[in-house]
Amino acid sequence: MDFETLVTHRYSSRSYKPDPVEKEKLDKVLEAARMAPTAANRQPFQLIIIHTEGRQEELRRIYKPDWFAVEPPLVICACALPKKGWERQRYDSQNYAIVDVSIVVDHITLQAADIGLGTCWVGAFDPQAAREILHLPDQVEPIAFTPLGYPNDAPKAKKRKPLEDLARYERW
Ligand SMILES: Cc1cc2nc3c(=O)[nH]c(=O)nc-3n(C[C@H](O)[C@H](O)[C@H](O)COP(=O)(O)O)c2cc1C
Repeated sequence: MDFETLVTHRYSSRSYKPDPVEKEKLDKVLEAARMAPTAANRQPFQLIIIHTEGRQEELRRIYKPDWFAVEPPLVICACALPKKGWERQRYDSQNYAIVDVSIVVDHITLQAADIGLGTCWVGAFDPQAAREILHLPDQVEPIAFTPLGYPNDAPKAKKRKPLEDLARYERW
């Protein structure tokens, strides 16, 4: 798929088939994540790949809808390691680890779409439940989850603000 088609074709899938994801396809998605740019190339992230089979009930504590962890065969948790992230020390110590993780997840969603897999960013999860269930150490921040599987729904028309509302030229 060319890039323009891919970015319009990717959508948040909220229904999945139970079919497993082939290892080669999962590896391809994870390789796209690995290639993501990160501030100062620190790569301050960890991905937890979770097979949902037999874990549906505990995963439901993290985020309830069936499309999150009952229907799809896989869920990925993208975590930031802020202590390993680059900080804009010279000015305001802004930490970029969350930005880095966001780019990683975007690579995941786009690569998945390119090979016929569905994803959906999930930010509205219970972070405490995620910590307990995934045994996350204190210094690890769960940032986003996505189911990964074959979609069982179809994309809806994209609703986006017009570009005039989103971009300015030269100054605010
Ligand atoms: C950071 C982030 C968090 C999101 N969290 C959720 C979520 O918790 N639950 C959900 O159903 N969708 C979630 N979404 C998906 C958005 O609703 C979706 O991307 C948006 O409506 C645009 O639709 P599209 O992805 O199909 O183009 C999230 C998206 C992003 C980027």
